[in-house]
Amino acid sequence: MRAYDLIQKKRNGGELSEAEVRWLVAGFVHGEIPDAQMAAFLMAVYFRGMSAAETAALTKVMVESGETLDLRGIRGRTVDKHSTGGVGDKTSLVLVPLAASCGVRVAKLSGRGLGHTGGTLDKLESIPGFRVQLAPAELIDQVNRVGCAIAGQSARLVPADKRLYALRDITATVESIPLIASSVMSKKIAAGSEAIVLDVKAGSGAFMKTPAAARALAEAMVGIGGAAGRRTVAVISAMDEPLGRAVGNALEVGEAVRTLRGDGPPDLRDLCLTLGAHMVVLAGLADGLASGRRLLADRLAGGEALRTFREMVVAQGGDPGVVDHPERLPQAPAQRPVIADAAGTVLAIDAEAIGGAAMVLGAGRERAEDQIDPGAGLVIERKIGDVVRPGDALAAIHTSREGAVEEGRRRVRAAYTIGPGAPPRAPVVYEVVA
Ligand code: URA
Repeated sequence: MRAYDLIQKKRNGGELSEAEVRWLVAGFVHGEIPDAQMAAFLMAVYFRGMSAAETAALTKVMVESGETLDLRGIRGRTVDKHSTGGVGDKTSLVLVPLAASCGVRVAKLSGRGLGHTGGTLDKLESIPGFRVQLAPAELIDQVNRVGCAIAGQSARLVPADKRLYALRDITATVESIPLIASSVMSKKIAAGSEAIVLDVKAGSGAFMKTPAAARALAEAMVGIGGAAGRRTVAVISAMDEPLGRAVGNALEVGEAVRTLRGDGPPDLRDLCLTLGAHMVVLAGLADGLASGRRLLADRLAGGEALRTFREMVVAQGGDPGVVDHPERLPQAPAQRPVIADAAGTVLAIDAEAIGGAAMVLGAGRERAEDQIDPGAGLVIERKIGDVVRPGDALAAIHTSREGAVEEGRRRVRAAYTIGPGAPPRAPVVYEVVA
């Protein structure tokens, strides 16, 4: 085989066989196919797409490029959860212990934040002492004892994705449905759970800007999961404004704890109950979504979900005091309001721009090696549909970078569209692809 011929075949709209995809990916990972040829192939995929069979084959060979986690030592049904990423998306912090408190076994591998979206590992590390590096045996033991664990992914899992993603990132080929779908699903399949619930975000703060684009990604991922023998459900949810109110690592942990106590923002709670209902149904712990939702609501109201969160924090070396005293979480020295200068209703909030403002304040990283400030971020005071008068606070800025306050304020104000009339009401969940 020659890389040239495979690039040409894809460029002309042809379909590669599994053997051809395997040869290409293996050659790239082993350094036999240079970046220039792989970049040309990725661009051909960007324009020509991939069939369902090709996407499943790409995912399979990516999984085979490294080690996989064997979770058979876990007693009970394992269900994983993944979000395609959004702003203020602290769902995993609530959902993982909540589903575990119902009997679902959750061994979740998470990532770090890059760009305008946050990462679950960074959020958890804002809890003093919290350890995200767990060896496989430790992870399995913790899930058997506590019901759940959230840990970082070993570099030995899906090395092909690491190399391909780095190349996509510098060649404008990230935004391709087969490439995103195979990247996400290769990591989920390698992570070993029997079933997978995907939260595919649609809107201004998401990769996919419209529900139709999110549906296409969801269908590709559900197809890959099915081809790999993993029951997979995708929930398409709104990311037209930050989820909940807190954006920034420690601020989001605080909001997750309040949600586990039954005192969280309604959009976050609703999304967790929807995703959780699919998890308990896939685990065979409820016979329908309505009864699954009731079970989850009972575990929240009874305090079991909060207790499981506390046990997870203790098991991973974190300070459980943050559960009762969220003020023990890192706090930014400066807290400054962003004041509205217009009257009307909040018609839209550009979630990506809010994520950008949080980055300027120190909550995110531009490059993988950048340090983040765990206490930095913002709290949204006015959400879509709220009425605003001049002088009202739109948001509160939290930062230790005094010099970034004005830039943060400018970005937050620019993210808001305030005017007459009422905004179209976006649902928390658009649809489910199963
Ligand atoms: N997240 C991933 O893991 N991969 C992509 O390609 C895009 C988002």
